[in-house]
Amino acid sequence: MPFPITRPRQLRRTESIRCLVRETTLSVDDLIWPIFVKPKSEDEPVASMPGVVRYNPIRAAEEAATAFQSGIKAILIFGIPAYKDETGSASWQDDGVVQQAIRAIKSTTPDLVVIADVCLCEYTSHGHCGVLKDGEVDNDVTLDLLSRQSLSFLRAGVDVIAPSDMMDGRIGHIRKSMDEAGFGNRAIMAYSVKYASAFYGPFRDAAGSAPSFGDRKGYQMDPANVREAVREVQLDIEEGADIVMVKPALAYLDVIQRVRSKTELPLAAFNVSGEYAMIKAAAAMGWLDEKRTVLEILTGIKRAGADLIITYHAREAVQWIKEG
Ligand code: PBG
Ligand code: ZN
Repeated sequence: MPFPITRPRQLRRTESIRCLVRETTLSVDDLIWPIFVKPKSEDEPVASMPGVVRYNPIRAAEEAATAFQSGIKAILIFGIPAYKDETGSASWQDDGVVQQAIRAIKSTTPDLVVIADVCLCEYTSHGHCGVLKDGEVDNDVTLDLLSRQSLSFLRAGVDVIAPSDMMDGRIGHIRKSMDEAGFGNRAIMAYSVKYASAFYGPFRDAAGSAPSFGDRKGYQMDPANVREAVREVQLDIEEGADIVMVKPALAYLDVIQRVRSKTELPLAAFNVSGEYAMIKAAAAMGWLDEKRTVLEILTGIKRAGADLIITYHAREAVQWIKEG
């Protein structure tokens, strides 16, 4: 029955009515807070990501404990190593910065889910996500190094391994290495659908991980493709992924929706550094209401089909969700 019999505004009259018919609810349990750890002692703010700070392992453990007390269930760790070289060898040292942070966090806050990003770009002198052969990233040689890095994080006590490199076959390779090393009980969150995106700019400032030549288009996905996203997800599931991910989030809500309709696995979306920086910049100028904008964005990502959202807004969003 059309108007005047049907009047959708009847269900929008008061906040209580709106609550009753709300289709999507954002929960503190959905949020994963990404953090950067580095060896030096002082806290180091990231200029292009206001509110984001690089911490040493001890400070990271303090901040992680506070985040857990506020209700955050999981963090995702990125490492800025003491040195970079051709192969990214700092990433698999058992006394490396990420390994130290994992140990510190698990000893102070054992119930916090600790996830570690696995990739080589933060650790290589050339900034690419794998090792180079004749100026190109060599897929299969890189797999061994990613497994090596993963095992070192696992020995430090990490709960979930999150490979972000986009090499072919890395989920299967890492899964096999984990199982053989006795880590059959730990999970893999695969960056299954990771686009070659301009929105990673501030992250690369934070981690000093911009490629020194060329770009990542030879391994990260073309932003124009969505059928390929479904294929990447299928492969990662066949290889043993426990959680799949779409990244970035905002220009890819249709991809999140498509992947959601094709898999029963938990689906994560990464609200990346550039998406965060845009909001912070506009809010600082007084052009946007930050709280309302962030809650609207996070709700939109969930509505598109994500179960989990990795976001630098996590700590503030927790307070805003509690305020209602
Ligand atoms: C490492 C990695 C990147 C991000 C997550 N893991 C950077 C990249 O691929 O260049 C981006 C995260 C963000 O922008 O917030 N491969
Ligand atoms: Zn990388």
